[in-house]
Amino acid sequence: MTSPGTTDAARAAVATARARPGTVAPASTPTARDDSASGARLATSARRHLLSVADLGRDGILEVLHLADSFAEVTERDIPKVPALRGRTVATLFFESSTRTRLSFETAAKRLSADTMTFTASTSSLSKGESLRDTVETIDAMGVDAMVVRHASAGAPHRVAGWVRASVVNAGDGQHEHPTQALLDCYTIREALARRRSGDAPDDFAGLRVAVVGDIRHSRVARSNVLALSALGAEVTLVAPATLLPPSLEGWPANVSNELDPVLAETDVVYLLRMQSERMQGTFVPSLREYAARFGLSRERAARLAPDALVMHPGPMNRGVEIDAEVLEGSSALVTRQVHNGVPVRMAVLFLLLGAAPGGLAAPEAPR
Ligand code: MLT
Repeated sequence: MTSPGTTDAARAAVATARARPGTVAPASTPTARDDSASGARLATSARRHLLSVADLGRDGILEVLHLADSFAEVTERDIPKVPALRGRTVATLFFESSTRTRLSFETAAKRLSADTMTFTASTSSLSKGESLRDTVETIDAMGVDAMVVRHASAGAPHRVAGWVRASVVNAGDGQHEHPTQALLDCYTIREALARRRSGDAPDDFAGLRVAVVGDIRHSRVARSNVLALSALGAEVTLVAPATLLPPSLEGWPANVSNELDPVLAETDVVYLLRMQSERMQGTFVPSLREYAARFGLSRERAARLAPDALVMHPGPMNRGVEIDAEVLEGSSALVTRQVHNGVPVRMAVLFLLLGAAPGGLAAPEAPR
């Protein structure tokens, strides 16, 4: 998703609506898709899909974060909307439950003036036996430009990307990846560091020590975050009992600790993960109570963190298991900010994939 033109184009899209604060630009107003009047270069994203953080690399991650800065400003306006994706259609296809990711993508698409379509697996023809391929090809045939796909099977969005003309965004595939969660988490850390240092948001996380704590084995968020944080230079430590670590840590650029307490004092960011019981086959901890006693961020443990340490969780949370309610109320907890930042970050992702004029992206492959 790296292209020099996209940031210019996004700035033009944002500036268009800024010219008349609180208004949505009329149809004739220059947008990111009309470089003749705005002087912006058309977005020419080299990438059609966002399937994995690994596809982005450091430059691609930073491109999203920088663009999200522009869209964050849009989300603060009285009418938080720009015409950047007017005429494009974004479909959310969630084959697994979601509250924040789905609503966040739909909000992001609407704030870019895209039309949205919502597919709900339980009320679809899947219940009549229709296959995943027939389902997505049917939706593709309606002329959608992007499909935001969540599926319980790792690799499902990759398969979908091979079948459709639309751009595909992975919104969580099984235990594999959740790229936009990692992007919004990096954005949130960057924003918090800027606030604490009273300076510009840093692009380099060198020296930042992040502990990712909990059910790493079943977490797609953990994998995407380790890839994104390490790409930006952070030092990541996975903290979990051996049973909740992946069977192989090859390809995970991270240290490992089987205890939380020794790590606490040396941590700048504690990132807590939910116990993914829906993906567990068998018993991985003796009891939730015992897990909470060893790995939960209690008030007592939180008091041992450095005063400016940050506390994060992707949600949904099990209060009293991975985190205590009182810790969530403290100023170090960024959980609500993570949700808030999901919208501009997903606006940036959608814009980077769709922001060019139709046909302006890398030529779509014919569906197989
Ligand atoms: C996910 O979809 O992976 C969530 O954001 C995290 C979770 O379910 O625990």
